[in-house]
Amino acid sequence: MKSLVVYTSQTGFTEQYATWLSEKLNGQIMTLDEAKGRVSAFFENFDALIYGGWAMAGKIQKADWFLERLDGWKGKKLALFMVGASPNESPDVPVVLEQILDENQKQYARVFYCQGGLNYDKMSLLNKIVMKIFAGVMKKKNPEAGEMVSKSYNIADPKYLDPLIAYLKEVK
Ligand SMILES: Cc1cc2nc3c(=O)[nH]c(=O)nc-3n(C[C@H](O)[C@H](O)[C@H](O)COP(=O)(O)O)c2cc1C
Repeated sequence: MKSLVVYTSQTGFTEQYATWLSEKLNGQIMTLDEAKGRVSAFFENFDALIYGGWAMAGKIQKADWFLERLDGWKGKKLALFMVGASPNESPDVPVVLEQILDENQKQYARVFYCQGGLNYDKMSLLNKIVMKIFAGVMKKKNPEAGEMVSKSYNIADPKYLDPLIAYLKEVK
């Protein structure tokens, strides 16, 4: 199976997952900006196309480029993955994932979640401010969770890619 992993990452977690995934699939990897520079015929070379982006307010960052092309790629294995600060077992995760694809897209593509973490050192100033405000609000509602998101942490692990890899390897 020839696979291509396209990704967008701000602080490195999605890049790490995209790298692990492309290695496990023995596939190709490129950033979204690189993919945007390719002609559409390039993507016909692949059996599986995967897009990974970081979670921002419940959406997958810059997923539109991939989602707009999904319909034209029917017949290939198609998947997206979201990398966020929430743990995989957070009750918000299935709710958020459910809203990424429309009913038609759900027939031929799937969305997965991989827990990443937070890296304040690599965040843009604006995002740092947003996250600090969010952490402050959260501390009032849930002190433990608020404390967690006020600092950097890394909870990424390649095992969170296993369901996605199993899906890609399912016979169609
Ligand atoms: C403005 C902002 C909004 C975010 N929203 C979410 C969110 O809704 N859910 C979540 O789990 N993580 C959220 N995060 C955390 C990032 O998705 C997380 O740090 C991710 O690992 C970053 O991936 P990257 O290193 O590839 O950029 C948010 C971060 C920022 C800065």
